[in-house]
Amino acid sequence: MDVIICKTSADAEKLTARMIADAINAKPEFKLGLATGATMENVYAELSRLNQAGEVDFSQVRSWNLDEYAGLAPEHDQSYRYYMNKHLFNNVNIDIRNTHLPDGLAEDEEAEAARYDESIDEAGGIDLWLVGIGKSGHVGFNDPGTSFASRTHVAYLNNTTYEQNKIYFNPPESMPRRAYTAGVGTVLDAKKVLQLITGERKAAIAAAAIEGPMTAMISSSALQLHPDTVIILDEAAAADLKLKDFYKEVFENDPKWAKYQNA
Ligand code: F6R
Repeated sequence: MDVIICKTSADAEKLTARMIADAINAKPEFKLGLATGATMENVYAELSRLNQAGEVDFSQVRSWNLDEYAGLAPEHDQSYRYYMNKHLFNNVNIDIRNTHLPDGLAEDEEAEAARYDESIDEAGGIDLWLVGIGKSGHVGFNDPGTSFASRTHVAYLNNTTYEQNKIYFNPPESMPRRAYTAGVGTVLDAKKVLQLITGERKAAIAAAAIEGPMTAMISSSALQLHPDTVIILDEAAAADLKLKDFYKEVFENDPKWAKYQNA
């Protein structure tokens, strides 16, 4: 795992967007995995800016999102389809037909989940999956207890996740208690995983996930198994990391990071 600590959340968001743009520029027919949530909003704003400035081209990019609420229509303002259209897809030159999220209204949930995994496999797999982390340690909606081998499925959300997300719903109790999520195994199959973690409220779970033992109680800790994971944090989220100084030394001195060192 490569761990990069930026001074501010704005620096971390810009670096994340820059790395995604560079990866797309290196392979225009890119298969991009995406996440939603407050953490990603500025990343998508920066990717939109880079696209509009002609610095990255989404015309051949295909995308798959991690998750979608079961029972929400795409038009619902808390659906993840709505979020993605608003924060990214409507602002860049991606072909909307090439953007994929589970269908929250599918009648046969198991078939929908299987279809979602198949569509990723048929495309040849995800080149890079951008992920965040929830306070429960989840990636996607893989709350504690989810198998590291899990594939896309509908999950019943635990109380931490329900409390974290219901504030966005009006009324809060209208938040669906179940959601489609790519499995931990689905994410681990991506060729590269890029995780962005910002803010003081994520410091404890970031340290547990990155430096603690791997456990299904913290889905994100499964990323320790992935051969190419880059984790970008701001200082606030990195506060509890034991190897904080070492990660900084590596980023400042290892030539593999040269192009980003003064970004
Ligand atoms: C959303 C997702 C979630 C979020 C996590 C953090 O697609 O995959 O795992 O990344 O819940 O959410 P925020 O960024 O709102 O703190």
